[in-house]
Amino acid sequence: MSATPSCRICGGSLREFFDFGRQPVADAFVAPKDLSNEFFYRLAVAVCTACTMAQLVEGIPRERMFHVDYPYVASGSADMRRHFRNVAQSFLDNELKEPGSFIVEFGSNDGIMLETVAAAGVRHLGVEPSKRVAEAAAAKGIRVRNAFFEESTAKEVFAAEGPAKVVYAANTFSHVDYVDSIFRGVDVLLAPDGIFVFEDPYLADIVERTSFDQIYDEHYYFFTVRSVQAMAAQYGFELVDVEHLPVHGGEIRYTVARPGARTPSPAVARYLDREKILGIAEQRTLDRFAANVQQLRESLRDVLVRCREQGRTVAGYGATAKSATLTNFCGIGPDLVSYICDNTPAKQGLLSPGSHIPVRSPEEFAASYPDYALLFAWNHAAEIMRKESGFQDRGGQWILYVPEVHLV
Ligand code: SAH
Ligand code: TYD
Ligand code: ZN
Repeated sequence: MSATPSCRICGGSLREFFDFGRQPVADAFVAPKDLSNEFFYRLAVAVCTACTMAQLVEGIPRERMFHVDYPYVASGSADMRRHFRNVAQSFLDNELKEPGSFIVEFGSNDGIMLETVAAAGVRHLGVEPSKRVAEAAAAKGIRVRNAFFEESTAKEVFAAEGPAKVVYAANTFSHVDYVDSIFRGVDVLLAPDGIFVFEDPYLADIVERTSFDQIYDEHYYFFTVRSVQAMAAQYGFELVDVEHLPVHGGEIRYTVARPGARTPSPAVARYLDREKILGIAEQRTLDRFAANVQQLRESLRDVLVRCREQGRTVAGYGATAKSATLTNFCGIGPDLVSYICDNTPAKQGLLSPGSHIPVRSPEEFAASYPDYALLFAWNHAAEIMRKESGFQDRGGQWILYVPEVHLV
């Protein structure tokens, strides 16, 4: 390795705690004819010894991830549609009551949250660089700007629209390494009493549940209450509230405001204490996580190899971005999992990145159930098991691997 990189946020030194080796772009589903063009990079995670922010050691250029063909469509899950309807309703009820109130969401994707705001007739703007999903939102009557949110975009939005009461981002703020430009943009755009709210996977849940497949190119940072509080302060903001969410295997919704603008909730101090007790960014905790990751890899491979030896069929369920890390790190290819079923039309007919497992429609799954289904979309387990109850009725078994390998 060349010079040790330093923390993208505070410049402190990084301590690497896991190296997944050569990995592909997690959402780069590939056509068989394009296999020779796959891009790989070294996926490794580190923690900052000064501000405790966990982060990737190497990032990849944002245009490689977020472009016209970015395939992730947020509205594919009914549970997530409900989640974001509730988020929107809470903003409408608590923050956007004054006439003319304005909300900006970056990473608005196909409009899963903003559609409720638009339906209420409240002034809004989505900022979304991936053109196909941005167009899907626009087709629902949502105002969208097809761009990356950063300082320059925020300045243009402010000039055209004035201040925002709320700036919101779900599963997006931790996807960008340029948090400095984002915070400067929020500073330009946010009304004096406005709030910047973001929700992202929680490092404590990833460590506790060994859900290491949350680590991939798009997830650049792994936030904790402590590291977000320090980051917000560094850019002139104050962390005023945190809320633990059950979605995507455990996330935290952070609310930041201008210093003194809002009274901090006791939840912030409570979570800081809890993280101290957990020793969340400490070497012993992350070393234990690393050992658990290796162990999970072995147990999952054991189950899949045994299935193959016994002539049992195994399909994957959910062509998630997460499964790129899982399959490539565990050496799971079409010899162990013959195909992956997924309801996203843009993924069907392609191969999973790096591991080259074909993606097929849920109809093909139902037409001829396999003996086992490896649930790559484990974060949507309740919804998928409900929807696919016919699979278990016919004797099929789900293979889950979070927090450990088990059959259901
Ligand atoms: N908010 C949705 C989508 C998350 S996927 C949800 O929680 O389900 C992340 C989205 O962020 C993608 O649609 C991607 O194109 C977008 N994105 C990535 N970088 C961005 C940036 N700098 N500004 C705005 N959107 C961005
Ligand atoms: P998700 O776990 O939300 O995200 P990521 O790609 O970031 O890991 O992805 C869920 C995938 O599973 C998505 O491709 C859609 C698919 N899916 C189904 O095929 N059927 C379903 O019922 C649900 C909820 C998801
Ligand atoms: Zn740092």
